[in-house]
Amino acid sequence: MKLRNIRPHIPPSCIIRSSWGTVKSLNGLATDIFDILDLGGKIFKNREVLRYSYIPDTLPHREREIGSIARILIPALWGDTPSNIIIFGMTGTGKTVVSKILMKALQEKSNFIKERNLRTFMEIQEEMSDSESVRCLNSALSIIDHDDVLGPEMSQQLHRQIRSIYINCQQMDTAYRVMTQVANRLLPFSDEDRLPVSGLPIDEVHSRMLSKLDEASSLVIIILDEIDRLIMKVGDDILYTLTRINEDLQRTRVAIIGISNNLKIMDYLEPRVRSSLGSEEIIFEPYNALQLKDILEHRAKEAFYQGSIQDNVVSLCAGIAAQENGDARKALDLLRVSAELAERDHSPKLTDLYVKMAQKKIETDRVQQVVKSLPLQSKIVLYSIIQLKIFGRIKTTTKEVVETYSNYASKLDLIVLGRRQVVNLLNELDRLGIIQTKVISFGRHGRTTVIESNIPNTDVLSSLQGGLLSELKGLKPKVIYRPSF
Ligand SMILES: Nc1ncnc2c1ncn2[C@@H]1O[C@H](COP(=O)(O)OP(=O)(O)OP(=O)(O)O)[C@@H](O)[C@H]1O
Ligand SMILES: [Mg+2]
Repeated sequence: MKLRNIRPHIPPSCIIRSSWGTVKSLNGLATDIFDILDLGGKIFKNREVLRYSYIPDTLPHREREIGSIARILIPALWGDTPSNIIIFGMTGTGKTVVSKILMKALQEKSNFIKERNLRTFMEIQEEMSDSESVRCLNSALSIIDHDDVLGPEMSQQLHRQIRSIYINCQQMDTAYRVMTQVANRLLPFSDEDRLPVSGLPIDEVHSRMLSKLDEASSLVIIILDEIDRLIMKVGDDILYTLTRINEDLQRTRVAIIGISNNLKIMDYLEPRVRSSLGSEEIIFEPYNALQLKDILEHRAKEAFYQGSIQDNVVSLCAGIAAQENGDARKALDLLRVSAELAERDHSPKLTDLYVKMAQKKIETDRVQQVVKSLPLQSKIVLYSIIQLKIFGRIKTTTKEVVETYSNYASKLDLIVLGRRQVVNLLNELDRLGIIQTKVISFGRHGRTTVIESNIPNTDVLSSLQGGLLSELKGLKPKVIYRPSF
């Protein structure tokens, strides 16, 4: 939003701009710049509803999965230890949100049951003498009705607390980190016993985790989200430890919920870890366009003012996201960014035009983020492809890329990678969706790999520019003219 667009609301002659970002009118009254910018179309009623951190009240089209997981977890409310669970599903299929909601519901139900037991016990106790208190507890337990949650047999385990620990293994990606996280999450934030983030021998971390778990005297459900990343990074030793941990505990029991994007991850586990972790498998299928539409409609009702979005906007966002793997996160992103663009434009309504703009913006942002985070050698390979494109080679070959890259890398005094290593980097760029590679056969004359980038040069170059690569400015690529592909 440029200030130029809002000037008509305040006569330009009355405005001076101060260095600290407010606009002052000449009569001496300071007006907050945000008041001035906040003039136009209001679309968002509550933008938090479309953020990742928001946990919705309802999860349409996940009732079956929620039911299946709840059925596995319900023994927790009877004082038993539920089976371990592994949840699989592609990105944005609701695995994390479903697990978080279920943990909250389980916790609430367990607190409710505990309170109810206590109330019943107190009521009976009031009518009886102290000497009868033990008998009284037994009667209290026996009169609690056997509803769908409570089993017929009440045991001393009934009073075992349920605690859940959520761990994102992309961040906690070593055995040390996972174990310290388990121990620390059982302690108050200011507790002196909290384990340091590094520096202890792993055996000590293990034994301190065990003692903290046992002191908790609870049923502890550990959710290992993105477990595939942990396994790929450090193997399955930590999972072996966690799935066997009940053998070393007296008062606490542990159940594990693993969440993975990668269905094949079980192949990387030792058979005994596989059978323990995967004793219950739940699969989250990608959403289709109609399901995504339902999900978005629920959110849109809370997020936007009535009448502020065009009728077809939700279907359009759902359709686009359905084509891209049925990812609910993408669908929500698209809706949020479209609304932000419309609001920034002071448009009174969110229309499909903004969805198209948002789609482009999200893709550009993604590409720029990926390109910026590439290792230097990959950046030079990509820079070579873009330079070849600028010099007319919209489709280029491995040979041209390798030669151009070698020239650039040596100009920058870097180690020059061999052909095979460059091909590996090309494959990685292809996997990231930055370029496309395709093998073309020339019959008797052999085969060649054709490389192409459909991303606008400016988007890539703006992320590559600066740093060492600016030294390559003006250096032409090695174009080898061959027939067009
Ligand atoms: N059925 C649903 N109803 C409402 N919102 C949903 C539903 N499914 C997913 N979402 C929302 O979509 C977003 C992505 O969901 P979530 O993070 O649970 O996906 P995920 O399967 O864990 O993805 P990843 O594998 O990338 O971690 C979240 O904002 C979540 O609230
Ligand atoms: Mg997730």
